[in-house]
Amino acid sequence: MSVKTAVLVSGGGTNLQALIDAAHAGKLPHADICLVLSNRADAYALTRAQKAGLSAAVCERKKGEPREAFEARMLEILRAHGVEMLVLAGFMAILSKEFVQNYAGRILNVHPSLIPSFCGKGFYGLHVHEAALAYGVKVTGATVHLVNEIPDGGRILLQKAVEVEPGDTPETLQRRVMEQAEWILLPRAVEMVAKELEEKRCRN
Ligand code: GAR
Repeated sequence: MSVKTAVLVSGGGTNLQALIDAAHAGKLPHADICLVLSNRADAYALTRAQKAGLSAAVCERKKGEPREAFEARMLEILRAHGVEMLVLAGFMAILSKEFVQNYAGRILNVHPSLIPSFCGKGFYGLHVHEAALAYGVKVTGATVHLVNEIPDGGRILLQKAVEVEPGDTPETLQRRVMEQAEWILLPRAVEMVAKELEEKRCRN
């Protein structure tokens, strides 16, 4: 049985789309995307989920709500769907050590740089590309890694380099990194981890 997978999103959801397309192309035989969970009600990723006929849920952190309470609500939703593996695909919230322990070795994240460059707290979305351009690097890229209690600190699974081109803006660089790296690496890594988890399940 394939591994029940939730994709966690906050925004446009192009990485979610890459996963949906990979699933339709038969490239995710070991992962079953059973839920898309957004921490923002206005995320376009939710429309993508709906168009693909996937179950979707919204769990926003209320104003002043302690992180533990927000994470407990997320956990409840994930458990209700029998989720075994999480994929952070543009999910813009940092998860606590306690939350991560519930899915140790079963949470993947895609980050738009070559970790350990331009990563950690404050480095997310377009800011990562702004920082790369400000530094003047000639090569950047994307990383898919396992999530642990350190932001962007878990074991690296896959990485791919992408050239910075003269005249790049954060937006043009972001698009190139997505096209040439993120949308390729993320489905590959998801299938890789799901296959390992399924094999482990068969052995036990
Ligand atoms: C992607 O570039 C992803 O790598 C990045 O946000 C973007 C989300 O785009 N994630 C982070 O920066 C996490 N630290 P998407 O919603 O179109 O997939």
